[in-house]
Amino acid sequence: MSTAEMRPDSAILGRSQVDDVDAIAEIALVNADPTEVAHAVADQADALFTWDYTKAARPKLDKLYEKAKVSQWNASTDLDWSIEVDPHTAFSIFTESGGTGDPYWTEHPDSPAKNFGEKEWDQFSLESFAWRLSQFLHGEQGALLCTAKIVETVPWIDAKYYAATQVVDEARHVEVFNRYIDEKVGVRYPVNPHLQMLLDDIINDSRWDMTYLGMQIMVEGLALAAFGFMHQLTEEPLLKKLLRYVMSDEARHVAFGVLSLQEVYSEMTAAEVRERQEFAFEAAVRMRDRFLQQEVWERMGCDVYAATKHGINIPPEQQIFQQLLFSKIVPNCKKLGLLDAADGWLRDRFTDIGVIQFEDMIDTSEEYEAMSL
Ligand SMILES: [Fe+2]
Ligand SMILES: [Fe+2]
Repeated sequence: MSTAEMRPDSAILGRSQVDDVDAIAEIALVNADPTEVAHAVADQADALFTWDYTKAARPKLDKLYEKAKVSQWNASTDLDWSIEVDPHTAFSIFTESGGTGDPYWTEHPDSPAKNFGEKEWDQFSLESFAWRLSQFLHGEQGALLCTAKIVETVPWIDAKYYAATQVVDEARHVEVFNRYIDEKVGVRYPVNPHLQMLLDDIINDSRWDMTYLGMQIMVEGLALAAFGFMHQLTEEPLLKKLLRYVMSDEARHVAFGVLSLQEVYSEMTAAEVRERQEFAFEAAVRMRDRFLQQEVWERMGCDVYAATKHGINIPPEQQIFQQLLFSKIVPNCKKLGLLDAADGWLRDRFTDIGVIQFEDMIDTSEEYEAMSL
């Protein structure tokens, strides 16, 4: 398969340059209607009955299912909701790409935050925390809907069983993030437009394996890394415990994606695999774009375009946080053979966006047991 047969970025992303600031900022500005209370997406797939009820025909999926059944925690009783939380300090943005001590944000002439004083940074820290948790919440609802769809569409009984346990897991995740935002943070954000585009694309695709690739490999792979990062940095005990619980589930979810897709991809034609590579790349860019947190800059009264541009232009050596988000996705894509198919097209694209260095990290189908509680 020659790289010349891959579609151009304009067809995959709707823009010819990955870092086209105008196009990225435009997506952010065409924000969801703030009064919207429901959002419909056609899911265009057949619900499949199977008459082959043989349990453990796929032993690795059966093992995951058995594990899931005994790993259910309860947000209502296993977490101490009496803990008092200061949302300004529970997770400080200052320790990542921006904030105090990082001259790229505090002093650079192009930084939208160059004139921020202590009060503004304090506000920014709260807004950014609320934004992150809100996107976790919306992403969790995306996972809830996607996994319910997988129960219907996947042809194997072991996968239907497992996916059904994941539906319950995701319901608990939506519940727990919503409760934390409501009771402990008090500020929330609507779904980020880049994230909504990606979730819509995933649900809208009629092919059942695309739901897995988009959700279990890409969205949940990124979530696992993002939860891990927040878990490592926060000292807030309720959030720390909550994230640890969620991570133990997420590692199982990503493993479910890797184990299921390995079988499917091994039987696909080169052209079919190529489409999966393009989809993985599109998802990676949408997720990277959402972390520019344009809505936060808007709420801070800053120029969103300037903030987007400044965020995209972070020097590569300072993009450690953004790159770390891909630390689960890249090894899992490698395990699935997606990096090197079509003359290494996805390897080249992941190199372009600066995340290929994670390819030899442990993949989640190996790691999930170590992450269980
Ligand atoms: Fe989840
Ligand atoms: Fe999940």
